[in-house]
Amino acid sequence: MDKVSVPLAGREYDIYIGPGALQNFDFARLIAGRDVLIVSSETPAKLYADVLIAQIKRSHKLREQSAAQALRLESIVFADGESAKTLASAGEIFAKLAHMQASRDVTLVALGGGVIGDLTGFAAALWMRGVAFIQVPTTLLAMVDSSVGGKTAVNLPAGKNLVGAFWQPKAVVADIDVLRTLPTRELSAGLAEVLKYGAYGDAEFFAWLEAHAAKLLQLDPVALTHAIVRSCQQKAGVVLRDERETGERMLLNFGHTFGHAIEALMDYKGILHGEAVAIGMVRAAQLSADIGLSSAADTQRLIALSHALQLPTRVPPALLPAALLATMRLDKKAISGAIRLILWRGIGAGFVGTAEDAAILRAWTQ
Ligand SMILES: NC(=O)c1ccc[n+]([C@@H]2O[C@H](COP(=O)([O-])OP(=O)(O)OC[C@H]3O[C@@H](n4cnc5c(N)ncnc54)[C@H](O)[C@@H]3O)[C@@H](O)[C@H]2O)c1
Repeated sequence: MDKVSVPLAGREYDIYIGPGALQNFDFARLIAGRDVLIVSSETPAKLYADVLIAQIKRSHKLREQSAAQALRLESIVFADGESAKTLASAGEIFAKLAHMQASRDVTLVALGGGVIGDLTGFAAALWMRGVAFIQVPTTLLAMVDSSVGGKTAVNLPAGKNLVGAFWQPKAVVADIDVLRTLPTRELSAGLAEVLKYGAYGDAEFFAWLEAHAAKLLQLDPVALTHAIVRSCQQKAGVVLRDERETGERMLLNFGHTFGHAIEALMDYKGILHGEAVAIGMVRAAQLSADIGLSSAADTQRLIALSHALQLPTRVPPALLPAALLATMRLDKKAISGAIRLILWRGIGAGFVGTAEDAAILRAWTQ
């Protein structure tokens, strides 16, 4: 199994990546007390909860023969999708933990996509002012992005991710075998975040992706592991240097300010986050080229790679440029006058910049 370390002082953890992890990983090493709560949603729970529970028990037994019976393992399962990421769901987790009489040494295990990871991390950050949690991501997006870096959150009716905490997991265990059941569209949406790492910060990785797009879509284990490892290394490095997103971490938002506007205007329906980000990255590249920062050839390479990864690059026609611009203005990155965005000077050369309305409108119309 490959390993990427996140050496945050006092909160260091490792990300384990490879096939078969669910059946082989020594979970017991990370479980301090006897209480474990697995948090999941319907689909990953149905597909993988049994194997995860069996492996947690097996590893516990191997480690502590005499205490094997003492492990108290419970589960809570939410509906699939973004609707689970609420304060009410966190409240259900707290009620379950209270029912278990779980103390400070309880371990929460998030088995699912980014929604479950964000919700579980949020609950772990708050229960008894913070307890251990392990991320077992089951979507590609969660493996390369949401499970790494310690951002946890739930949504409010007023907006996404409005309530949250920085809370790092004890470990991330990414078993690439689980991606076989992931719908292709979700796989491509995860690949958008992989592509992002190359696009804003690593030209060599971008070129590698151009050469391996087909293998990634075919779930070739070697290519997939490489892409996840490289993405996690990049994210871990950024998180290490800027955990609280005051500088460099903002670069991870390449394409996101545009993408969020699309998602918000579509009421988060009919488009996946990664798809919106893919369209957003192309807008950011076009805007950069328009104002003379980068070449049109680099924009074309980005468009071609997005297509090779089966990602959209065009704005849904029903969304009007003026409405998209207005939605961007509501984004928290808007500062007096110009909007703050991640732009690029070409592949691998993203930076935090600002743009005027006219330039942004032009990028939306292309
Ligand atoms: N914390 C962060 O830094 C961060 C970063 C990016 C995104 N996010 C959050 O992540 C969330 C999106 O995550 P996501 O894209 O993983 O979506 P998701 O969690 O909704 O999962 C997508 C769908 O795939 C299903 N699924 C999960 N694993 C599966 C598997 N192995 N086989 C079949 N189906 C499976 C899920 O049940 C769900 O229906 C958003 O809430 C977003 O805000 C957080």
